[in-house]
Amino acid sequence: MSNRPISTDDAGIPAPSDEHSLSVGPNGPLLLQDHYLIQKMAHFNRERVPERVVHAKGGGAHGVLRITEDVSQFTKAKLFQQGKETPLFLRFSTVAGELGSADTARDPRGFAIKFYTEDGNYDIVGNNTPIFFIRDPQKFSDFIHSQKRRADNHLRDHNMQWDFWTLSPESAHQVTFLMTDRGTPASWRHMHGFGSHTFLWYNAAGEKYWIKYHFKTDQGIRNLTADQAADLAAGDPDHHIRDLYDAIKAGDHPSWTVNVQIMPFEAAADYRFNPFDLTKVWPHSDYPEIPIGTLTLNRNPGNYFAEVEQAAFEPSNLVPGIDTSPDKMLQGRLFSYPDTHRYRIGPNYNQLPINAPASPVNSYNFDGPMTVRNPQDPVYAPNSVDGPVADPARYAGSEYEVAGEIIRSASRLHAEDDDYAQPRALWENVLSGTDRAHLVANIAGHASAPEVTADMKKRVVEYWSNIHKDLGQGVSQGLGLS
Ligand code: NDP
Ligand code: HEM
Repeated sequence: MSNRPISTDDAGIPAPSDEHSLSVGPNGPLLLQDHYLIQKMAHFNRERVPERVVHAKGGGAHGVLRITEDVSQFTKAKLFQQGKETPLFLRFSTVAGELGSADTARDPRGFAIKFYTEDGNYDIVGNNTPIFFIRDPQKFSDFIHSQKRRADNHLRDHNMQWDFWTLSPESAHQVTFLMTDRGTPASWRHMHGFGSHTFLWYNAAGEKYWIKYHFKTDQGIRNLTADQAADLAAGDPDHHIRDLYDAIKAGDHPSWTVNVQIMPFEAAADYRFNPFDLTKVWPHSDYPEIPIGTLTLNRNPGNYFAEVEQAAFEPSNLVPGIDTSPDKMLQGRLFSYPDTHRYRIGPNYNQLPINAPASPVNSYNFDGPMTVRNPQDPVYAPNSVDGPVADPARYAGSEYEVAGEIIRSASRLHAEDDDYAQPRALWENVLSGTDRAHLVANIAGHASAPEVTADMKKRVVEYWSNIHKDLGQGVSQGLGLS
């Protein structure tokens, strides 16, 4: 007998055989009493949880956040105090494809971080772009439906995508990013991450600031051309998972410089555009990026399913010193993520090791499927038997006044609440000649798919002409319309 451990069933009972089922005679029928075989087959049938409805394909790694600067005047959040090191898990993803889809598809990339802080989990669930396609959560499922598959033939459909985008002018900024070569990053290590939304920071004295997070890659930006991305999609669909895993395994730990933009609380009201509009960035000339530390990935997951597939990020995980903003998209997401985790993984998803906080949990929620935490009595609050008690004086969060009519309306209250100015600035002031040429070619290539109708092609040209006439003209030529 070797020193290898004895295989067992899931109850720890030694396995009768790794290879042979219990049969009546060597070639006879099998017996229901072979509980080892039954457990093996039944467990296999339950090996999958539903894939994420969006961001299904991804990979991730463990790491650490190190804060090098003193930002205590802006936030009392413990993870952002100078000298602090906080363990984290980061998951990257594409948005629209299913679990087996290609990593190099043109798509935004998810950049979701879970920080295991002293005050519980803090999640920043961002993308590799600082903006998004829409500004109202009402449109999110419609947007995603347009990106996924048709009801009839189960095919993705570029006509449907352009239909949604051209009828949603607020998408122009994000679609511009998406159609540049940044829509096909060379690897997850070679792209930035953004918190995208505006969040609230408050310090120990209760003073409030609006902030945005930027995670700037220390590896440098590297993108693929459309042709390179297509070749990799065919030849190595798991290219980005492989790249990250191999780099970390080889000791080449990728890192990002963590920057914030900080807006005084009072400046939001009469800023030149709505600072809570997710389709806009805050120009650096108004609010420069301030470096506060470094995020490094240094450990691969030991088990992909347990750590990556079952990771459950939620923008509603906010710790003392950090709060929400009136960004309507953020407000919608506060509901959506914990709701989908309860459905996808189960109501006790926070008890799984990858999601469990590093700090003590003294919650009055208990029981339910797959519970492993054993709370003790009392199981209710308030109680007079020394159960955990809240401390509102320390943890009630930030307070500010909001007022207004209950209405359904888009915000156009600021002088520059305009959908095209910022993508125009990107085209005019930021993109190089090569970037512009690739942008035009990528749009034309995408809108040349056989299903895109002649009428839709005209709408596509109009959409890009609204950003800049040269861009519209380039797309028109690329589509053979002029
Ligand atoms: P700046 O010139 O100060 O900033 C331009 C930004 O664009 C930098 O963050 C730069 O950082 C980034 N950038 C450079 N090349 C590209 C590219 N090919 N695709 C996307 N982003 C790129 O100007 P403003 O702050 O006034 O912004 C001008 C425009 O730049 C905005 O309208 C927006 O479209 C875009 N932008 C702005 C950001 C912001 O937070 N202000 C962030 C990202 C883009 P880097 O090269 O390191 O990515
Ligand atoms: C994943 C909803 C907007 C980034 C998801 C998931 C849902 C969802 C249901 C699947 C989560 C899971 O099963 O684990 C929404 C809704 C939005 C919205 C309703 C708008 C109202 C955004 C925006 C961003 C974003 C604006 C980025 C700024 C992500 C990321 C993931 C994700 C990164 C993957 C998280 C992971 O790696 O597990 N979203 N989303 N989403 N979303 Fe959103």
